Amino acid sequence: MTKPRILTGDTPTGRLHLGHWVGSLENRVALQREYECYFIIANVHAFTNPSRAENPGDIRQSVLDITLDYLAAGIDPAVSTIFVQSEIPAIAELTFLLAMLIPFSRVMKNPTIKDEIRDKGLGDDYPFGFPMYAVGQCADILAFRPELVPVGEDQLPHLELCCYVARRFDQQFCGVNSHTEDRDYVKAGGVFPVIQPKLGRVKRLVGTGGPSAETGQLLKMSKSLNNAIFLSDEPDAVKKKVMGMYTDPNRKKATDPGETDPAKNPLWAYHETFNPDKAWVAETQAKYRAGQIGDVDCKRKLVEVLVALIEPMRQRRLAFEKDPGYVLKVLKEGTARANVAAEETLYLAKQAMKQDYFPRTLTL
Ligand code: TRP
Repeated sequence: MTKPRILTGDTPTGRLHLGHWVGSLENRVALQREYECYFIIANVHAFTNPSRAENPGDIRQSVLDITLDYLAAGIDPAVSTIFVQSEIPAIAELTFLLAMLIPFSRVMKNPTIKDEIRDKGLGDDYPFGFPMYAVGQCADILAFRPELVPVGEDQLPHLELCCYVARRFDQQFCGVNSHTEDRDYVKAGGVFPVIQPKLGRVKRLVGTGGPSAETGQLLKMSKSLNNAIFLSDEPDAVKKKVMGMYTDPNRKKATDPGETDPAKNPLWAYHETFNPDKAWVAETQAKYRAGQIGDVDCKRKLVEVLVALIEPMRQRRLAFEKDPGYVLKVLKEGTARANVAAEETLYLAKQAMKQDYFPRTLTL
């Protein structure tokens, strides 16, 4: 019996942090035995940002770091396939083919693309490859014909585009009727499934810093905002970040009543997300609101909770780091498996497009 597939992954922008963990990574670890999993490290996408593209060595390092983070988090390369995007030629080819089915105006209306142009200050001088990456992401996914795509909320517009292009391809080239239910596209003869997103337990984890000056809202955890706790942070670093983090600015003394809304106070966002002792959280929140317990005590408890989550991962990471050839071996083997799956899809797509003149054998 074949297992249904999962495809998801990360753009290498640094090491992974707690936001990645609750957004998607913890789901991947939990689902890797029920599903056939493919995890893409989207190194080509890292070049869409001109300032990052100036430092290709950092992108390379981040690919290796993320692989280590995956392994440390519990992704088992014996059952899951971790691979490098640039080494899968079928993804690049499929990007070109799918691009023919997506109106350019639709890509430019994608809210994730628009937000990134604004947040990264790309102006209107961004490379052509920047909006192109949204099409590329459809190819990353569809090359594996997965059922489920575990992602954070910010990725939903990309997944919508992926569903749109799958429907269009199947209708145009495979004769699938436009009234077909999304879940039946493959059954009806389509090459591509209309995938299902799977959101993490926490849609958007806030960072350790205060709210944005513009919106007044707490900012998302992100390496570039310098408000992240990494899965590879040492206990002392976790302690320093937690003890120094933003809480409720209206609280001058421990006896002032405090804000426990997780949307306004990261302290409680983290306790609600990571503290397994729900009774402690509920009782302590009540005390906090009544001004009977200070920030410092609640932060100390949080350090304990986070170190208990992070430290086993960090220890595993250290063990993997001792063998520098290991990460490359994992990527090489994963990439070989990913190429088998992606080539198979590309062939089916070309067949549907009547561009299957002869079987291709790529040998060097
Ligand atoms: N864009 C995703 C991110 O920045 C990474 C990514 C690339 C991805 N290709 C993907 C995620 C395919 C899911 C599926 O996090």
